[in-house]
Amino acid sequence: MRITSATFLQSNTNYKQCPQDKRLEFAYIGRSNVGKSSLINMLLHRKKLAKTSSIPGKTQLINHFLINNSFYIVDLPGYGWAKSSKKNKKIWQKMVENYIVYRKNLVCMFLLFDSRLSPQQIDISFLNWLGKNNIPFTILFTKIDKQTPYKTQITIDRWKKNLTDNWEIFPTYFLCSAKNNLGRTQILSYIENIIQKNKNITLHN
Ligand code: GTP
Ligand code: MG
Repeated sequence: MRITSATFLQSNTNYKQCPQDKRLEFAYIGRSNVGKSSLINMLLHRKKLAKTSSIPGKTQLINHFLINNSFYIVDLPGYGWAKSSKKNKKIWQKMVENYIVYRKNLVCMFLLFDSRLSPQQIDISFLNWLGKNNIPFTILFTKIDKQTPYKTQITIDRWKKNLTDNWEIFPTYFLCSAKNNLGRTQILSYIENIIQKNKNITLHN
């Protein structure tokens, strides 16, 4: 898929204020600093569209970007930011969980894991929560430029081992790097396929 236009549309704290049309939506979630906003910029070939920072906790709201005038990409705040207060964590949880559960336009969550880290409890819990709530999701292993392919494979194997008890098949996943565009073509084709499938469903109804 070619990105012909990508514009920031709005930031919200409540899913009820999100755009009220039928465009499909793809959202990015994962721990603070895992690389969500950077990955969105990489996919869209826009350097500063989504705000990034080396300090965790940069993205605080539900941010909508309109792509090719046809679908939305949504940048969400990260979870597991150690320095945020208990109160802030609760606010985050309510805002993001309500968005994920109730936002009808959402057809796929991209769940980002740092390719350098073994499965962390907070990530496992979040993944299982998505499963329990029947939210379609796909895993993205980020920052693969930071280590050898061999080490990235070790992380993936650890994840596969970890999920065997609860998951019959390992979820679809892609490897990516915002630094050198790795994974871009695959992720954009994947999004395009989902859009195409949903079009067919609408036509048959
Ligand atoms: P929050 O908004 O705080 O939840 O973080 P985020 O997940 O949006 O992370 P962000 O995109 O702001 O990136 C965090 C840091 O990681 C920044 O310093 C980025 O430059 C760096 N980073 C992100 N992706 C990559 C990558 O693929 N490779 C490398 N080397 N660095 C990356
Ligand atoms: Mg961010």
